Amino acid sequence: MQSSVKDLLDEIAVLRRERNAVILAHNYTTGDVQDVADHTGDSLELARRAARVEADVIVFCGVYFMAETAKILNPSKTVLIPDALAGCPMADMINAGQLREFKAAHPGAKAVCYVNSTAEVKAQCDMCVTSGNAERVMRSFPPDEKILFVPDRHLGGHIASLLGRRYELWQGCCPVHAKLTAGDIAAARAAHPGAVVMVHPECPEDVREAADVALSTGGMCAFAKESPAREFIVGTETGILHRLVGENPDKKFHPAKSDLVCADMKKITLEKLRDSLAGMKTEVVLPEEISARARRAIEAMLELG
Ligand code: 13P
Ligand code: SF4
Repeated sequence: MQSSVKDLLDEIAVLRRERNAVILAHNYTTGDVQDVADHTGDSLELARRAARVEADVIVFCGVYFMAETAKILNPSKTVLIPDALAGCPMADMINAGQLREFKAAHPGAKAVCYVNSTAEVKAQCDMCVTSGNAERVMRSFPPDEKILFVPDRHLGGHIASLLGRRYELWQGCCPVHAKLTAGDIAAARAAHPGAVVMVHPECPEDVREAADVALSTGGMCAFAKESPAREFIVGTETGILHRLVGENPDKKFHPAKSDLVCADMKKITLEKLRDSLAGMKTEVVLPEEISARARRAIEAMLELG
């Protein structure tokens, strides 16, 4: 028999207390999961949160690399993900062997990974970035430093063009953001004249050029709050609309395209969250050697702010 939402919320509240757990949720999870979480945010906000958690258990409502990042930053804590099959297709577009070959083809280059990558890939990198801090972090490299950027060619290309630099880009991308076209942005502008267009830097170049700003999901929340504009077109996964609408009840938000849905983020449900706390599953476990090396790249990023 299926539990009612109220029963589920009650059970989660009891289990969260019993387990001394904190629930972190990404901005793309469903609204009910975001509402029950202790903290909702983008990858950077959640990594920062994870780095200072005092609870014994972190339940990470998001995709696997995010839970893995929380575990890397908290090796002594129990980190659970309610569905271990919630992966990120972009993170799986480069593996450790492919990165080794990429590095061998460019001796002396520094390797930078987007946080949307596996722990094995992070372990081989000098620096990690998120969409929320990539510009600042990449500015810390000398202009003539040779950089390999993996796996997202769009985020890497975006930062290279902002800073007037050239990176060797791995040709990965997010299949969700890749669906958005400049034509979709033009159609959304025609339907909502005067609305400000925000897109994620994982979008293709012509989409970013057609937009007014390219921001991380946390950046979009901050921008929408501070902007005097009343209406926004949102070019990213539609789960973010829950937070945007909740935080700005007097403003209007339109998805740039209604089917920008990350099926993996939507695998995290209230039922699975309850089961995760009840059965203490699925625990993220990492070899200490990989974890320690990946931690260096993530901590180098967090030290830059
Ligand atoms: P943010 O860090 O901007 O939330 O992005 C994460 C992500 O997976 C975007 O697709
Ligand atoms: Fe990965 Fe794209 Fe989903 Fe983000 S939206 S988790 S990059 S597949």
